[in-house]
Amino acid sequence: MTSPVIEVQDLTKVYSGGTRAVDGITFSIQPGELFGFLGPNGAGKTTTIRVLATLLRATSGIARVAGLDVGTHPADVRRRLGLAMQTPTLDTFATGRENIELIGRMHRVPAAELKRRTDELLELMGLAQVARKMAGTYSGGMRRRLDLACALVHRPEVLILDEPTEGLDPQSRIALWGELERISKDGTTMLLTTHYMEEADRLCNRVAIIDNGRIVVDGSPAQLKAGIGADTVTLQLDAHGPEDLARQQTNVRDQLHGFEPLEAVTPESFGVSLSIRGAGRALPDLMRSLDRNGDGVRIVGLAVSQPTLDDVFLKYTGRRIRTEAADQPIILGW
Ligand SMILES: Nc1ncnc2c1ncn2[C@@H]1O[C@H](COP(=O)(O)OP(=O)(O)OP(=O)(O)O)[C@@H](O)[C@H]1O
Ligand SMILES: [Mg+2]
Repeated sequence: MTSPVIEVQDLTKVYSGGTRAVDGITFSIQPGELFGFLGPNGAGKTTTIRVLATLLRATSGIARVAGLDVGTHPADVRRRLGLAMQTPTLDTFATGRENIELIGRMHRVPAAELKRRTDELLELMGLAQVARKMAGTYSGGMRRRLDLACALVHRPEVLILDEPTEGLDPQSRIALWGELERISKDGTTMLLTTHYMEEADRLCNRVAIIDNGRIVVDGSPAQLKAGIGADTVTLQLDAHGPEDLARQQTNVRDQLHGFEPLEAVTPESFGVSLSIRGAGRALPDLMRSLDRNGDGVRIVGLAVSQPTLDDVFLKYTGRRIRTEAADQPIILGW
């Protein structure tokens, strides 16, 4: 068994105002892993990252990077880390190239190597064409990529990224995922935080779901989704206002009472989602059950989907993590 690159035991952070932002979390990351923290706003992701990056002192517990305690060996820890925070910390009045070189000099990368490495990173991040332009003129996606280049300039053993794709348009997000996958394949251990379940699912080989400062479950995305053991059937309902919607949702619940493959009914703003084992086979019976009393339930769309990490989040917290339109299920009308 190799020793973990990141090791956190019973870590707690209580801010001076009394907020218990991190509440006794324990996890470890093995060399080469791409580990994701998935959780909603305020879950405690950034706080954990700040402790690991030596920017914030923990209230109690242990955090080690490459075997070094972050509290007692902050300078050694920082040398081993590449860090990109939630808001890119670039010098907007310096060019892209100057930003990378500045960070390289801070990490004492020898001059000749720094030149070579900067060229290589500008190329890798698709910034070679704009290397001489001020970072302040860059688009959001270009800033993120430049920030990532800065984090990589001293060839860190561990890369820590706080919400690397937050606020990016879908194309830039997918391009950045490709870059992160490439960096991971090269052997860099990575910890990233995200509140996009698709991102955690697509990129990470292990995910910890964090909520209210606690890890509620962790595992590979496939393991977590397999643990759900049911598919999601989403019903879009034709409702005239919130009262009608609530009435129809109650009708769905009543009409499906005793329907054997049904595990859960969750009200949604557009209708209702049902957690059903073997949904494909159960669908005809399901529709018959829902059709029993005239217009008590007016279904205008239906979609069947495999479990997502959002369903995992729902199972363990009773809430949805979904925060944006891109994460909404596609409903097929009929
Ligand atoms: N400097 C601070 N002082 C006091 N409370 C703080 C401070 N920073 C964060 N908090 C609180 O700690 C909790 C966790 O915040 P944190 O920033 O770690 O969450 P997060 O998971 O990164 O959220 P987001 O997805 O919005 O970035 C929140 O309740 C937040 O309001
Ligand atoms: Mg955060």
